[in-house]
Amino acid sequence: MISRFSIALPFCFILCLIHVSSAYEDDGKDPTIKTMEAFSGYPIHEHVSPDPLSSLSVDTQGLQKQFDELASFSDSPAPSVTRILYSENDVLGRRYIKNLMSLSGLSVREDAIGNIFGRWNGDEPELAAVSTGSHTDAIPYSGKYDGVLGVLGAIEAINVLKRSGFKPKRPLEVIMFTSEEPTRFGISCLGSRLMAGIKEHAELLKNTVDNQNISFFDAAKAAGYSNVENLSSAFLNKGSYSAFVELHIEQGPILEEEAIPIGVVTAIAAPASIKVDFEGNGGHAGAALMPTRNDAGLAAAELALAVEKHVLDSGSIDTVGTVGILDLHPGAINSIPSKSHLEIDTRDIDEKRRNTVVEKIHQSALSISNKRRVMLSQFKIINQDPPASSEEFIIKAAESSARELNLPYKKMISRAYHDSLFMARISPMAMIFVPCYKGYSHKPEEYASPEAITDGVKVLALTLAKLSTQ
Ligand SMILES: *[C@@H]1O[C@H](CO)[C@@H](O)[C@H](O)[C@H]1NC(C)=O
Ligand SMILES: *[C@@H]1O[C@H](CO)[C@@H](O)[C@H](O)[C@H]1NC(C)=O
Ligand SMILES: [Zn+2]
Repeated sequence: MISRFSIALPFCFILCLIHVSSAYEDDGKDPTIKTMEAFSGYPIHEHVSPDPLSSLSVDTQGLQKQFDELASFSDSPAPSVTRILYSENDVLGRRYIKNLMSLSGLSVREDAIGNIFGRWNGDEPELAAVSTGSHTDAIPYSGKYDGVLGVLGAIEAINVLKRSGFKPKRPLEVIMFTSEEPTRFGISCLGSRLMAGIKEHAELLKNTVDNQNISFFDAAKAAGYSNVENLSSAFLNKGSYSAFVELHIEQGPILEEEAIPIGVVTAIAAPASIKVDFEGNGGHAGAALMPTRNDAGLAAAELALAVEKHVLDSGSIDTVGTVGILDLHPGAINSIPSKSHLEIDTRDIDEKRRNTVVEKIHQSALSISNKRRVMLSQFKIINQDPPASSEEFIIKAAESSARELNLPYKKMISRAYHDSLFMARISPMAMIFVPCYKGYSHKPEEYASPEAITDGVKVLALTLAKLSTQ
């Protein structure tokens, strides 16, 4: 049903928020009032008194307090944060988030693996919802903003909308994803992978244990998820959401360097990870003469350089490759390496280009093995996720929200990946970035200013409002 009523409300909301944002900059003479009057066709002050409007702004201090409170659920001392999947502190953090969702009037549910959903039913609850969210798990000795901004900020965005008097048409839903970080079970974005219905990962989970030999199922049950073995119940159909937007710190330096408050993400790069083992005969570093050697360490070194070459040959700045692990066995100064182990990460926003790099790395591994007479005992592609592009109508909604809030923005690529990469398989997706100090992330120095967070929450709130009426 499209009535004057349902059209008028979003308008009111958008006007209100514009007023709030400018009141935030100067208290009183509001330069946007003219625009608002032109928009609405009546003098603003006759219609709404300024007082209730000023209470509509983002609760910056309350939100800061929530960041601090959530950060206190940590296995390492402040300012670092360590919150590992299904640990006691993770369970406390989950309880904290569910409580906040309830306080915001959202109806809360959890799926079999502990993805948490808080829904605000709109005027037309049967429509596919607009969703937003991120994660709250934290790798050892990391910071308090990665992921958390996209959860606490999303709940606050809902609060902003509610305080403004806005009523969504489509339902709005906040999601806290289970285990974006691969810390405990070696698989990143567990929650969103399952929601996207990726069966191979569901299968993998059945036999996955942590480094204490605790199975995924046992860990989940200990955290209260007794239904965890029914993994397929977490799968969502394509079309379950009309849009998904994730608010996140940039985790890179660009926005801060350029003093731009908002990043609108147009694509997310995706990694392929490869494990490689070479084996040779080893031998004494003095006795074995050079022509007789088959040095597994040199094979690894040559492959590491080949990775760099293939990545650079792609011709795109968006192609990257890293050999982050290179182990030699037996690891003695007077012993020729008899075994070597490499772990390679290569990423791109173009899947074909990245897969070409993977193929070239494989060819190099084979030819190096031949040339150096070492055995290529393992070449295993651990994962090879497709990159994702943001959906134009969500990009547009975020851009116009930033413009209406007088916040400069920049379109950019996410070089780290997020739950959004997997949500893209079942829903149109985009992301909103805010600047963070020096681009630091995954360490205690990670920091986003209260102003940056407030700007991000405002843009998210307005974007959700626009999407919920589409
Ligand atoms: C891990 O646990 C399983 C099942 O309890 C057991 O069969 C296996 O031997 C254990 N592995 C190690 C390395 O302890
Ligand atoms: C698993 O979940 C599905 C979907 O929610 C449900 O229909 C089914 O009955 C569940 N199976 C078990 C064994 O609980
Ligand atoms: Zn994150």
